[in-house]
Amino acid sequence: MSLLFVDDRNEKEARFPDVACFVVLKAMIIQIMAFLFTFFLLFLLKHQFTQIFITYPIFFLPSLSALWLSIRFKLEWWWHVLNFAFPAALIFALYMDFPPLLSLGIFFALFLVFGTTLMTRVPFFPSSKFLPYEIVNIVSDERDICFLDVGSGFGGLNFQLSILREGWRFYGVEIAILPWLYSVIKSKFYLNRNFVFHFGRYENLNFEKFNVVFAYLSPIVMPQIWKKVQDEMQPGSIFMSYEFAVDGFAPDVKIKFKNDDRILHVWYL
Ligand SMILES: C[S@@+](CC[C@H](N)C(=O)[O-])C[C@H]1O[C@@H](n2cnc3c(N)ncnc32)[C@H](O)[C@@H]1O
Repeated sequence: MSLLFVDDRNEKEARFPDVACFVVLKAMIIQIMAFLFTFFLLFLLKHQFTQIFITYPIFFLPSLSALWLSIRFKLEWWWHVLNFAFPAALIFALYMDFPPLLSLGIFFALFLVFGTTLMTRVPFFPSSKFLPYEIVNIVSDERDICFLDVGSGFGGLNFQLSILREGWRFYGVEIAILPWLYSVIKSKFYLNRNFVFHFGRYENLNFEKFNVVFAYLSPIVMPQIWKKVQDEMQPGSIFMSYEFAVDGFAPDVKIKFKNDDRILHVWYL
């Protein structure tokens, strides 16, 4: 089964927003400033007092400075968390004296899963395990279903759904290499099921052939994906967004889960 790709015009529109790189740059500047400030402060203290006692709270100084700067720079709240946590994690790792190869391995694995977040601003985060049961309630099993998970991560949603609906065709598109590779390998163990996991950006994939498209991305990309849905999806098809709504376009159905604050938004196109 081959996937359809949009033309060069859409490819141009699909470029990552410059703003994403700008935020990452800000976060880097914040970290550098926080560490410089801490070193400068300790340096001053050392020269003022012949003997200073480095106590544990001082280790939080770079974190607190980074948090303060993050708030001053008016970044979004999750960047405050990251800016605070990064120096603390770094100091903890140095303190624990982890073997460099272990740190490198962990960094590399995390980078292969989350590295693309620097560009897309959409991290990997699995949806609820109860979601597939709601999806099969919404989508009638009578017609031939071609289901796309936009940003399929490790493929968990498609694999779970395939147990409930053997006859559907399941597609995923994922930009992070490790989750994508995992889903491709895992799909080989489901010999009688119909899976295609495509590596790349959903912006380059035409949604026309899918009659159900599911997305669990981020509020930042919702206007962009909504435009794609309107431009490319056929009348009679279904678009679902888990957790994130589309400003100005109320869904036809909203499903609230037990034990989960996230809502499934459904539009019948
Ligand atoms: C919140 S996770 C959702 C994972 C999965 N769909 C689920 O429901 O469990 C979002 C995924 O979208 C991927 N992603 C983000 N931007 C993307 C893009 N432009 N093209 C393809 N995948 C993207 C991320 O790498 C991440 O794995």
